[in-house]
Formats: sequence, structure tokens, C-alpha cells
Amino acid sequence: MTDIVLSEQAAAPPLPGAPRPTVLRVRNLCITYGTGDRAHVAVRGASFDVRPGERIGIVGESGSGKTTLGLAVAGLLTAAGARVTADRLEFDGRQLDRSATRRVPVRTPGLSMVLQDAMTSLDPVATIGSQFAAVMKGVQRVGRRDARAQATEWLTQVGIADVDRVLRLRPYELSGGMSQRVMVALAMCSRPRLLIADEPTSALDASVSRDVMDLLVSMTVQQGASLLMVTHDIELCREYTDRMVVMYQGEVVDVCRSDTIARDATSDYTRALLACVPTLDNVAVDRLPTLEGIPLLARGSAA
Ligand SMILES: Nc1ncnc2c1ncn2[C@@H]1O[C@H](COP(=O)(O)OP(=O)(O)OP(=O)(O)O)[C@@H](O)[C@H]1O
Ligand SMILES: [Mg+2]
Repeated sequence: MTDIVLSEQAAAPPLPGAPRPTVLRVRNLCITYGTGDRAHVAVRGASFDVRPGERIGIVGESGSGKTTLGLAVAGLLTAAGARVTADRLEFDGRQLDRSATRRVPVRTPGLSMVLQDAMTSLDPVATIGSQFAAVMKGVQRVGRRDARAQATEWLTQVGIADVDRVLRLRPYELSGGMSQRVMVALAMCSRPRLLIADEPTSALDASVSRDVMDLLVSMTVQQGASLLMVTHDIELCREYTDRMVVMYQGEVVDVCRSDTIARDATSDYTRALLACVPTLDNVAVDRLPTLEGIPLLARGSAA
């Protein structure tokens, strides 16, 4: 296994009393995998903002570019050799450097990410306690005892009982829900201003999913952090986010308030996506429409 060395981008603290800038500003973001004949544009001209404390859902079908977008913002696309360009890609008022010349992932202070499958994101051979210590040492000067005390506090906050035992366990000894809670605690212990969560609940059953979503919301609210949640589940987005960015074939086709999306969506794709969701209003319908069955969705026709 190759070691990944994290370099760090310079962080200028905001001036005291200055208004808090937009947390994330994305303008005309384009991401291409490969070169020449093998080039594949995964994200094409995406633009949207994330405001302080706001919860944004990035929603769209498989392959629409959601994960690619999240990884690019987090600075984790370097290993994939993707080309990232943007008119603006600003976090906390500072331009992020996501150029392909960087060989190693960039740790951006104030930005954390929770990945889809906690089991493959945690270090399989290290105890949970030592993984906390490693993360904390990356963001602050902290001794062993202090790191353990802080880890205990974070794990308690995410609802882990029996924390002393869990700190000694390795990831394979945790259930799916527990490991996702550990991931949330690890992501939040650096006190991010923006938490990116990529399909944080798709590996979990329905009731544990809701617990983890409730936890993500309560932890980000408590810390005053914004949340950028990547998901294919438009209903989950409607329930847990303030606004939605809808993606289709690498393009942003709608940016809407989540509670009024049914009224405000402008793209045929978003309307089609909403029509496929089972609700109390269409409970008597024998067969719900599917995206394939909607003629407006001939590839490339979504506006
Ligand atoms: N490392 C890579 N190299 C080349 N192409 C890639 C790579 N990662 C993703 N892609 C391609 O980029 C496009 C967008 O992929 P991405 O994983 O961002 O989609 P997604 O919306 O997250 O899908 P899903 O809902 O299945 O997770 C897809 O066509 C995919 O095949
Ligand atoms: Mg994905």
C-alpha cells in the first residue's frame, strides 16, 4: 500500500468582525478524466453556492458526476489524475488549488468528508483510538492523553455507548451503523466549516440510515457547519436539506429550494425524477413511471 502524504493549503483566518463569506462558491467547474480519445468529461460547467450553515443536496442518477464533484471540492481527485478547471472554486473566500500538477491529496483546513462505505474508508489495521489520534495530530498539537479524551468526547457525542471499548476496536469489529458514526466523529473532530458526505447512508438499512442522517444534521447544526450531501435519493434530500443541486450527465440542471422543488424545478429531468417517487398521492397508482419510460429523457435532451 502506498503512503498518501497530505499537504496543507495555507489558511488565512477571517478578520475579526468581518461578515462570514459564502462557504463554498463554485462557478463553471469542469472535471475530465483521461486525455485525448479517452477523455471523459464527468462534470461540465457546474455552478452553485453553499452558504454558512446551509445543507445542500447534490442529487442525480448513477454516473451523473456527484462523487466526482464532491471529491474535487475536497481535494481528493489528484490520485485519479483528473483535470479540474473552474472560473471560481472558493472555500471560505479563498480560491482552492485543485490543479492536476498536485500529486498528493490536499488537506484543506475547515473541510472534511465522509465517504460512502465507512468500512473501506477507515484504516483496516488500526484501532479506532489510534485513527482519532492520527486525525487530531494532523490538525492540532495534541498529546496522547488529550487526543484520547477528545476522542472519547466525540464518540459520546455521536451516540457511541461503551466508548472505552470502541476505542480499542478495529473497523471490522464494528457494525455498519457504528462505523458510519465513527466516520462522522472523525470528520467533525477537526471542526470543519463544510462537511461533504458522499452517500453516507446507502450501505445502511432504512432505520439506521435515518439515525445517521439525524446525526449528520445535529452535528453540523451544533458546530455551525454547512453540509454538502451527495445522494441519489431525492426524497432524502427533500427531507434533510435546504436546497438541492440536481445533476444529469455531468451538468447541473436545477438548483432549487428543497421544500418547493416540486413547484420550482425548471428541468424536465428533475420533474421526471420527482414523478418516479412513491408518495401518498400516487399510492393508488398501479405502476409508477420510471426514467426510462419518460420520452423527454432521451440522452442529452435534459436542459
Ligand atoms: N477514476 C475515474 N476514471 C475515469 N472515469 C471515472 C472515474 N471515476 C468516475 N468516472 C466516470 O465519471 C462519471 C461520473 O462518475 P461519478 O462516480 O462521479 O458518478 P456518481 O454520480 O457519483 O454515480 P453513483 O451514483 O453511481 O455513485 C461516470 O461516467 C464514471 O464512469
Ligand atoms: Mg457516487
